Amino acid sequence: MKHTLTDLNGKTFLITGASSGMGAATARALGQVGANVVLAARREQACDAVAQDVIQAGGKALVLRVDVDVERDIEQAVKASVEHFGRLDGAFNNAGTLGQGKPLHEMSSAEFEAVMRTNVMGVFYAMKHQIAAMLQSGGGAIVNNASIVAQVGFPNLSHYTASKHAVMGLTKTAALEYFKQGIRINAVCPGPIETPMSLQGFGSVEALQAMMSQTPAGRAGQPEEVALPVLFLLSQAANYISGQGLTVDGGFTVQ
Ligand SMILES: NC(=O)c1ccc[n+]([C@@H]2O[C@H](COP(=O)([O-])OP(=O)(O)OC[C@H]3O[C@@H](n4cnc5c(N)ncnc54)[C@H](OP(=O)(O)O)[C@@H]3O)[C@@H](O)[C@H]2O)c1
Repeated sequence: MKHTLTDLNGKTFLITGASSGMGAATARALGQVGANVVLAARREQACDAVAQDVIQAGGKALVLRVDVDVERDIEQAVKASVEHFGRLDGAFNNAGTLGQGKPLHEMSSAEFEAVMRTNVMGVFYAMKHQIAAMLQSGGGAIVNNASIVAQVGFPNLSHYTASKHAVMGLTKTAALEYFKQGIRINAVCPGPIETPMSLQGFGSVEALQAMMSQTPAGRAGQPEEVALPVLFLLSQAANYISGQGLTVDGGFTVQ
């Protein structure tokens, strides 16, 4: 999918969860506009393959092994981004985990905490260190990957749903704190997108597509269909937008 958000050219963006799905698609889309992309995830080899695509498309790439559960990993990743490319202009805090679906009363505290650790603490650590770097260099833009379950409930996913509501809370509050200092903070709220995570949740492509056939779009979204809205929110085209959750769901939640 070709696009022309050219003000991102030559700027530096850190993506967590760049090894797969929407993170990888966003890295490739940033490569197409000649951006510098820092690809962070636990699976370095998978990030290396995406980095090759970024470079082939005309961008620059740096791969870092990062576990977003570990604050030190993120702190180091932000530091390395600034050292390698000179500054950090933006970030897509996209790493996330679904957890195992089950009714709330059957969920262990450990299962609940594991999802909250990655999806909430991971985004908090990332924003904390990215914002500190952006305050030093005069501004930037952050996009967090929330979900439509940041807006509505979803049975058997109380951990995941609570975590994504928290991501929106972080997004809105940080947007208020930093707009005047030149940092915009938004989220995307995707509906079901065809990635390894949704296939884990639905069990198969067929089950995912069967549910999505009942929606206005009549199909699940593709990772690239989230990547371009992320680029829009990172770009100057979204200069007056902060604290928003942009729903990208093919009309699923307005039925
Ligand atoms: N797919 C959907 O339908 C959907 C809908 C709404 C929102 N989302 C959200 O979109 C985001 C991306 O998910 P996806 O659908 O693209 O799934 P995916 O293809 O399974 O990708 C998940 C990514 O998160 C990374 N990750 C998970 N835990 C991590 C950790 N502790 N440290 C670093 N990276 C970690 C994974 O990298 P490694 O395994 O290499 O570390 C991987 O790159 C998630 O936040 C998810 O909640 C997904």
